[in-house]
Amino acid sequence: MAVAFRGRYDRVAIIFHWVIAALVLVNLAIGLFHQSLFDGMSLMPFHKSNGILILGLSIARLGWRLSHRPPSLPAGSPRWERALARSVHWLFYALLILLPLSGWIFSSNPARPRPIDWFGLFELPVLPVGEALAGAAHGGHELMGLAMAGLVALHVAAALRHHFVVRDRTLARMLP
Ligand code: HEM
Ligand code: HEM
Repeated sequence: MAVAFRGRYDRVAIIFHWVIAALVLVNLAIGLFHQSLFDGMSLMPFHKSNGILILGLSIARLGWRLSHRPPSLPAGSPRWERALARSVHWLFYALLILLPLSGWIFSSNPARPRPIDWFGLFELPVLPVGEALAGAAHGGHELMGLAMAGLVALHVAAALRHHFVVRDRTLARMLP
């Protein structure tokens, strides 16, 4: 079924989308498999620096998104599907900021602070947080990491379904 569309994503939105998607996939892989596949904690300094990069890029991306309207969702798809797509997109923006922030908070635990040496260039300040908040942020980081992995799986399945089953331009308009 062919579905009519108005417009496509602008170049800046497309670059933000794919650069951040690649960095998130790398961090999910390191986070989820650092114990089993990789050499314990040796990749963690990279995971932390990369996470802070994602935080900075995502804040800029959110600013771009709030000031630039995206193309409208496929008019032919059911209301529940459009509501689900919109919810997943906003949940992504929330996680792209809260997930790295929770990492920074629990790395600032006053009981055992482990400051972030950003790609070996400079050290980020330790956040002024208490032990209780740092402990909660640790649990939150793990939960949000799993939620992010689940949502990415759903999001990719939806994109591939649009492209290969519904055969509309949803994926094409997010490609360069
Ligand atoms: C979007 C960015 C990020 C993603 C997607 C992400 C994802 C994850 C995931 C999935 C885990 C495994 C959780 C588990 O054990 O089940 C993890 C662990 C971890 N993350 Fe992140 N993370 C991000 C950013 C950060 C940042 C900015 C920091 C620190 C500044 C950080 C520090 C850590 C540490 C130290 C662990 C190991 C925790 C442990 O094993 O006790 N992460 N991350
Ligand atoms: C891995 C991490 C990813 C994250 C965090 C992510 C996040 C997002 C977000 C937040 C949007 C909404 C953009 C907006 O309207 O403001 C979006 C749209 C989109 N993403 Fe992703 N994405 C990821 C990976 C992927 C992958 C691997 C694909 C393709 C297989 C993909 C395909 C799309 C498409 C086609 C859209 C446009 C949807 C529409 O037009 O309504 N994404 N993504």
